[in-house]
Amino acid sequence: MKRVVRQVSRSGYQKLAKPLLFRQHPDKAHEGMIKAARALHRVRGENILRVWNYRNSRLEQEILGLKFKNPLGMSAGLDKNFDLPPIAKRIGLGFEIGGSTTAQVCAGNPRPWFRRLPSEKSIVVNVGLANNGVARNIQRIKRYPRRLWRDFPLSVSVAKTNNPENVSDSEAIADYCQSLRQLEAAGCAPLYEINISCPNTYGGEPFTTPARLDKLLTAVDDLRLTRPIFVKMPTDKKWPEFMKLLAVIDRHEIAGLTIGNLVKDRSALRNSKLLDNEIRGNLSGQPARELTTGLIFKTYAKYRDRFVIIGVGGVFTAEDAYEKICAGASLVAMVTALMFEGPQVVGEINEGLVKLLDRDGFQNITEAIGSAHRG
Ligand SMILES: Cc1cc2nc3c(=O)[nH]c(=O)nc-3n(C[C@H](O)[C@H](O)[C@H](O)COP(=O)(O)O)c2cc1C
Repeated sequence: MKRVVRQVSRSGYQKLAKPLLFRQHPDKAHEGMIKAARALHRVRGENILRVWNYRNSRLEQEILGLKFKNPLGMSAGLDKNFDLPPIAKRIGLGFEIGGSTTAQVCAGNPRPWFRRLPSEKSIVVNVGLANNGVARNIQRIKRYPRRLWRDFPLSVSVAKTNNPENVSDSEAIADYCQSLRQLEAAGCAPLYEINISCPNTYGGEPFTTPARLDKLLTAVDDLRLTRPIFVKMPTDKKWPEFMKLLAVIDRHEIAGLTIGNLVKDRSALRNSKLLDNEIRGNLSGQPARELTTGLIFKTYAKYRDRFVIIGVGGVFTAEDAYEKICAGASLVAMVTALMFEGPQVVGEINEGLVKLLDRDGFQNITEAIGSAHRG
């Protein structure tokens, strides 16, 4: 029955909702989606979205002491101010990475923030970390009932405030630490993600060089946080540079890696002439798929289960998610597919994952993690 609902929803989304949504500028469409989500939550209407939910015990895992009902989550950036957790859970996602949030309120870059590239299954993103600031976001998270987080872990992505005053290393590190300290004091999230790889901000990505990353993570170690920490990795580093960052991270109290962020290199587009040089922003979706899967594969080959890996980049189908899991990711997250395919895609991917487990003779999703390395 739910499968039929998902099929009807898919064609409804593709034939009705998407053409209407895509007629709007993506900045407006995103704002509209957030407003609709808040309105639905105010009237407790999100339960209706359960029709898309797909549950199967073979997808359940316990990771870092937390229960995940399936491996598919929302990656950072779609829900910067934590408006979507009730909806994300009801449509069947297994977890959410909210934010990125910053110590100060942050207006972000001048608009436009988004540009769709449907032929490339990609979005050009130039938001520059707009968000309400960590203090307000903590209040919002705390307003949700505790039962929301049962089987639905929340990770809070923390970045440095994007403003011209915050570009020196010491100020930037203080900014990250201020957010993490506040989150820890509030005790409102079981996981943290440190976003070191947001392109298009003042000062660029200072902590994607080994020495400076070491400084940042030393300061984070000193906070003695009680929750597992992930680092959101850049995707544009060549393997030798990426490996140097991993070697630094390995020396610190970091439990996991999210691989990875937006793609800067526009040659990843099939048609690289699609974007004028003066259009600012970086690429999500399909151009990130192979790149991130390759980095996950190499990272897992070197570090096995030293790090829990969240695989992110161009996941649109069960096959895309499975490819990252077999390469070594324990969890997978997405943004662009939710915008391009509609909310029923979550159930479709989870159902497809179970079929892929059957095909390969795995009892559960944990058995599939890293299986590409076994033969
Ligand atoms: C609209 C949008 C906003 C994003 N904002 C953030 C952000 O604030 N922090 C972050 O770590 N990543 C951000 N990202 C990157 C995503 O989390 C993800 O790494 C990237 O889009 C690749 O995944 P996808 O192909 O499923 O979209 C953003 C992506 C999109 C599309």
